[in-house]
Amino acid sequence: MKYLSVILSVLLLTCVLCACTSGGNDEAAQNTSEETEIQETDVTSEINENTPDSNGKILVAYFSATGNTKAIAEKAAEAANADIFEIVPSVPYTQADLNYGDDNSRTTAEQNDDSARPEISGTVENMEDYDTVLLGYPIWWGQAPKIMYTFLESYDFNGKTIIPFCTSGSSPIGSSAENMHSLAAGADWLEGQRFDGGASADDVSSWVNSLGLK
Ligand SMILES: Cc1cc2nc3c(=O)[nH]c(=O)nc-3n(C[C@H](O)[C@H](O)[C@H](O)COP(=O)(O)O)c2cc1C
Repeated sequence: MKYLSVILSVLLLTCVLCACTSGGNDEAAQNTSEETEIQETDVTSEINENTPDSNGKILVAYFSATGNTKAIAEKAAEAANADIFEIVPSVPYTQADLNYGDDNSRTTAEQNDDSARPEISGTVENMEDYDTVLLGYPIWWGQAPKIMYTFLESYDFNGKTIIPFCTSGSSPIGSSAENMHSLAAGADWLEGQRFDGGASADDVSSWVNSLGLK
């Protein structure tokens, strides 16, 4: 009888010890999985910190010879909470230069010359900060002015999103944007939008909102 009670006590003690040990293991397992989770989170944030030039900023870059595109660009920058950069020609366009009725005017000559790249005065210092560029220009003979080509060839647009917009007397945006794709082939070009020079702030902000920019 005495032996039996000793055996029972030993068995009981063994059970209690087993229960404690296995509870400890559960806890340890839980801790390990929590640690793994934390480590995984750390790795993710490290990747994000190390991803270069991706702080989601938006730039509105535009050229405007007579002010129409400038007005739209300013409304777009306001609606998108974006920075703005005016593409200013080193040699300003005179009234005579802009005379599209003159076969010998500067603009006619430039638009007919595939290699024309009018010089730009000033640069975007921090282009790498921008993920998205809204690119504005007037339509000249159905196309973008050649100074836009100069601009696109001046920076690295790889991985950026470019969203063209234009103003015109009546012409649609047509092939003007597609014809610039090869100048920034590594960019993601979205469909462009044509505006009347006098388009309202509401028109422009509806368009900007439709783009779903962050
Ligand atoms: C050289 C030149 C060519 C133009 N060609 C066209 C054209 O092909 N189609 C059109 O609808 N408007 C044409 N326009 C009108 C401009 O696209 C329009 O006035 C535009 O809003 C001007 O923008 P800006 O004031 O920003 O320069 C032309 C204007 C110039 C100066």
